[in-house]
Amino acid sequence: MIITTASMKGGVGKTTITINIAKILSAILIDCDLRQKSAYLKGKEMGITCTLLPPEKEVDFFEKIKKGSDKDNLIIFDTGGKDTAGSRMAIAVADLVIIPVNYSSLDKRGLEETLDVIKELESYGKTVNYKILLSKVDSRSSNFHHAKKELEKRGLPHYPFCIGLYKSFATSIDQNKTVMEMGDTKAKFCMEQLIREIKRELFSEQNSDFY
Ligand SMILES: Nc1ncnc2c1ncn2[C@@H]1O[C@H](COP(=O)(O)OP(=O)(O)OP(=O)(O)O)[C@@H](O)[C@H]1O
Ligand SMILES: [Mg+2]
Repeated sequence: MIITTASMKGGVGKTTITINIAKILSAILIDCDLRQKSAYLKGKEMGITCTLLPPEKEVDFFEKIKKGSDKDNLIIFDTGGKDTAGSRMAIAVADLVIIPVNYSSLDKRGLEETLDVIKELESYGKTVNYKILLSKVDSRSSNFHHAKKELEKRGLPHYPFCIGLYKSFATSIDQNKTVMEMGDTKAKFCMEQLIREIKRELFSEQNSDFY
């Protein structure tokens, strides 16, 4: 199975979410952001199996990855906050594309750009299974409820929960840990919900404890 975290906007939490998923679900992490390489470098420090997208023969690489992926292994692509050929291919091969969105006005533009790329891929006959994930948002804030309402009104697929704005997401990564290894129960709960949904959708696991 292949997951891609994508958003044409920087700083929305893609790498943080990718690293947590990769470590918790023992996935292979592939970093498409060759400029920053932050997922790759941090992933290595955290003992995650990871690699960089090769700068050449990308098409061959994605074909190989797609062929080699099955329901028993999980590959996760982290993309940078830019529209690149590598990001587009990572979106096209994914079984699930997670689009983190912070939902500031600037961020909304990032969402629209990402949806435009998906529409373009779909115009070539590719079906993209994507879900928007409100990220770095306070779940008690009016922002979260407005954002959710707007997504519902537009019929855009999204998770009913958000990845809250918690310092422990940043500090955990600094300490080479997942948020699950920190004492912040609220932050943990956000990640737990996401992991549970991924397991349900990609691996048909119902109500499983995720450890
Ligand atoms: N849920 C969160 N709560 C608080 N801070 C967060 C959260 N998620 C990420 N951050 C912080 O926000 C910043 C950006 O996060 P991250 O690098 O994961 O974003 P990104 O989308 O991968 O950015 P880029 O597009 O530049 O690769 C980092 O400093 C990170 O520690
Ligand atoms: Mg990143």
